Amino acid sequence: MILNKLCELEDWQNLGLRDAIRVMSPHMVRAFPDYPDLKEHRKAWEYAQLFSGLQTLGALRADAVVLGVAAGHESPLYELTKHVRWVFATDIYGAGVFTGHESDATMLHNPDQFALDSYNRNRLVVQYMDARDLRFEPETFDIVYCLSSIEHFGGEPGARTALLEMQRVMKPGAVLMLTTECIVNGADPLSIENLELFSPEALTALLASVPQLKPIEEISFKISHKTLKHVIPLERAVNDGLAGHTEYPHIVLELSGRQFTSVSVFLRKAGESAAARDATLPLYEQADSRAAGTKQTLVSSHRSRRWAGHSRR
Ligand SMILES: C[S@@+](CC[C@H](N)C(=O)[O-])C[C@H]1O[C@@H](n2cnc3c(N)ncnc32)[C@H](O)[C@@H]1O
Repeated sequence: MILNKLCELEDWQNLGLRDAIRVMSPHMVRAFPDYPDLKEHRKAWEYAQLFSGLQTLGALRADAVVLGVAAGHESPLYELTKHVRWVFATDIYGAGVFTGHESDATMLHNPDQFALDSYNRNRLVVQYMDARDLRFEPETFDIVYCLSSIEHFGGEPGARTALLEMQRVMKPGAVLMLTTECIVNGADPLSIENLELFSPEALTALLASVPQLKPIEEISFKISHKTLKHVIPLERAVNDGLAGHTEYPHIVLELSGRQFTSVSVFLRKAGESAAARDATLPLYEQADSRAAGTKQTLVSSHRSRRWAGHSRR
């Protein structure tokens, strides 16, 4: 299975991905037993691509700590609580243009209301947080993911700041999964208020600007003729959504001459995990090294406070 790729109609023939789509959309399965037949939607694809990609990479471990960035109340948050130790959901809940929709403020005090199925409610933590200023210690998370959101963080500079932050809070060896908008008809990138449409070149350059993050494979920007046969103007898709209607296949959209769809990218943070670094030491030094690291942090912060005091005099 290719993990770093554009969303294509043919992906709905992939049995593993179809299973993941059903797992991520239990409400659709209840309403339409044949789901996802004839209901190809790129949003469902993004969720499934995250889930099956993490499975493929062996990242869904029982002790894994996961961060969802700009997560709204998306279904993967809930499903992941059944597979990992902790899931932290962050977003600017109650602020920004998605208030009342994806980033509804009530998510902060009642996440149960958005659960589509049973989940482990003791493993989900929901926090207000700007993606460009993640309030976590460095090297905290085993998995970080961010679905259809970096294009809303304030152009390329905002997306880059958020990527640097995500990289900072990832453990070495941790996995980052992103989905975002990618232009598929060769047009130039588009940057308007609250939305960035990346060209393949612009996205590649953005990712390369955070060299600690390495794509797990080359991104395939190939898109099939069959996928491109059905293009929905963004305005029509938005109006349909407001009227409670969805046109399928809902894969390629168009705005200002740019045809675009979702791209998924899995990246790994370079470097060794603390456990792997420790394992290279002789056994008798391993515990000492951890203790020394802790002492070092305390001593140096104590020293820097004293140093700061001297400098003021
Ligand atoms: C299109 S929605 C996607 C939400 C969710 N990931 C999903 O797939 O349903 C974009 C999200 O980005 C969030 N967002 C926009 N700017 C943000 C920022 N600076 N920090 C954190 N979240 C932000 C919005 O509040 C919104 O929830």
